[in-house]
Amino acid sequence: MKAIEIRNKYLKFFQKHGHVVIPSAPLIPENDPSVLFTTAGMQPLVPYLLGETHPSGIRLTDYQKCVRTNDIEEVGDNRHLTYFEMLGNWSLGDYFKEESVQMSFDFLTQELNIPVEKLSVTCFAGDEDCERDNVTAECWKKAGIPEERIYFFGKDDNWWIAGEEGPCGPDTEMFYDTGKPKCSEECNPSCGCGKYVEIWNNVFMEFFKDKEGKYTKLKQHNVDTGLGLERMAMLLQGKETPFETELFAPIMDKLAELQKVDNIASRRIVTEHLRSSMMITCDGGRPSNVDRGYILRRLIRRMIRHMNKLQISLDELSTLIDINVENLKEMYPALETNKETIKTVILEEKDKFVKTLTKGEKEFVKEMETVKSEGKDTIPGTMVFRLYDTYGFPPEVTEELATENGMKIDKEEFEKLFKEHQ
Ligand code: ALA
Repeated sequence: MKAIEIRNKYLKFFQKHGHVVIPSAPLIPENDPSVLFTTAGMQPLVPYLLGETHPSGIRLTDYQKCVRTNDIEEVGDNRHLTYFEMLGNWSLGDYFKEESVQMSFDFLTQELNIPVEKLSVTCFAGDEDCERDNVTAECWKKAGIPEERIYFFGKDDNWWIAGEEGPCGPDTEMFYDTGKPKCSEECNPSCGCGKYVEIWNNVFMEFFKDKEGKYTKLKQHNVDTGLGLERMAMLLQGKETPFETELFAPIMDKLAELQKVDNIASRRIVTEHLRSSMMITCDGGRPSNVDRGYILRRLIRRMIRHMNKLQISLDELSTLIDINVENLKEMYPALETNKETIKTVILEEKDKFVKTLTKGEKEFVKEMETVKSEGKDTIPGTMVFRLYDTYGFPPEVTEELATENGMKIDKEEFEKLFKEHQ
């Protein structure tokens, strides 16, 4: 099942259950300077979770474009993504645990035809702020999940909040068993060995956490759910990574065709960062030296570094953008409408970075030789800072280059100097 089919089935299923389909909010939050990007479907809905009346009613569903950037450096492995799509359904003071669990179960088993044996779930174990969620566990049992596949965990696993303050609550997560052997006797959905893949999270939002860390009950109970589309597509297509799905395969294949040096991590980085940069640019983001502009700059620059690593001419970037627009325009029609702007922004940034790279890399090599000749393996923070300050050479690039050369950078010292500079 292709990603777009999963999305369409999802929206139709929840429409059938009385939900109104609302459009995805832009990746760049409209009235929220506290976050750089929309990181979850619930974010644009916060006022309504707190009690404001939503014009489309109390049952909503959508697909939401999301960017999460805390793991940029992890992209290149077999699962991390910075841009992803989250499918969600909301109850704003309407249904709660029982209906939410039943609808999720029915969608997974009847619409996506996932065998019940493949599913495990987790519930909140309870603590001084909120009781153990036996109610949800009972709902799962009633729906058809046997007791031995219902697990209980604490706040680290089964509590959801965006940031430090805001609406929050216990959640219940659904896991898909990939069929891999257990990593140990105790192997369970929270262990992260890869046997269990989280596919959906239903948050029962009935609390508000304030800045002091105090929890109070909200005026209404809400349900906020999030299903990761790329991951679901990967599982339903029997693939090991999202990069093998139709969402990424055309770019992965083109890179394999163009590369002179084989490196799967670099191909994933280019493929992933290209899609993220295009989506952010499409929603009005522009590269700069601060905040979200810096994130976009970093994504584009990291992508270019890895095109260089694969020894692919940067002139191919324009073709790669064309391929991605063709491949993704059915899901995101705005990519086609804004294609020329996206191209101009990304190609201009590429030209700027090429200049920076040429100068910076030469300087880096000089610095590295000096450090090596002193028999050391750590590039001092002062050097990392000088490369940044004088040549605009990004610290993460210095770090990557150092790692490639079997060296480290003194990050702590760099950060100290950077703070002073700020
Ligand atoms: N807000 C929840 C999440 O992002 C559904 O996982």
